Amino acid sequence: MKFQIIIRNNVFRAVILLLLFSGTGCYKDNEQTMYPSDCNTTNVSFSQSISPIINNNCVSCHSGGIDASGGINLTNYDEILVIVNNGKLLGSIRHDAGFKPMPEGTSQLSDCSISMVDAWITQGALNN
Ligand code: HEC
Repeated sequence: MKFQIIIRNNVFRAVILLLLFSGTGCYKDNEQTMYPSDCNTTNVSFSQSISPIINNNCVSCHSGGIDASGGINLTNYDEILVIVNNGKLLGSIRHDAGFKPMPEGTSQLSDCSISMVDAWITQGALNN
């Protein structure tokens, strides 16, 4: 009887330890996926961060006036603000259901770039 209790206590302890350790592991993994350590999303600047992301990944197709892909031009702040306000910028780069996945025909933007755009919009999508 006493022996059984000792075993049960140790098993109990082992389970608790296991939960604690695996819990910590999970937390760290999630944190890294959501906020890559080298990805600074505080006070995101349009000119320093967002404009280069769009220039490098979107403007090749989304420029040229009426000839731009989907009729959408993304060559300056005012044009980009249009797809910020209708929700299509975030929807398309996150590949959300109901949006055309962008950039078209190539791999999704990096987690950091998507986080930067998300944070910039949350911070007011300023022309900063
Ligand atoms: C290789 C060319 C190409 C690139 C690069 C590209 N797009 Fe597109 N994009 C298109 C085409 C073509 C359409 C029109 C698709 C259609 O209407 O079927 C489109 C449509 C869109 C739309 C409208 C989607 C909708 O659901 O109405 C948005 C928003 C958009 N692109 C944003 C972007 C952003 C942001 C980037 C960069 C991260 C980007 N695109 C990169 C070709 C491109």
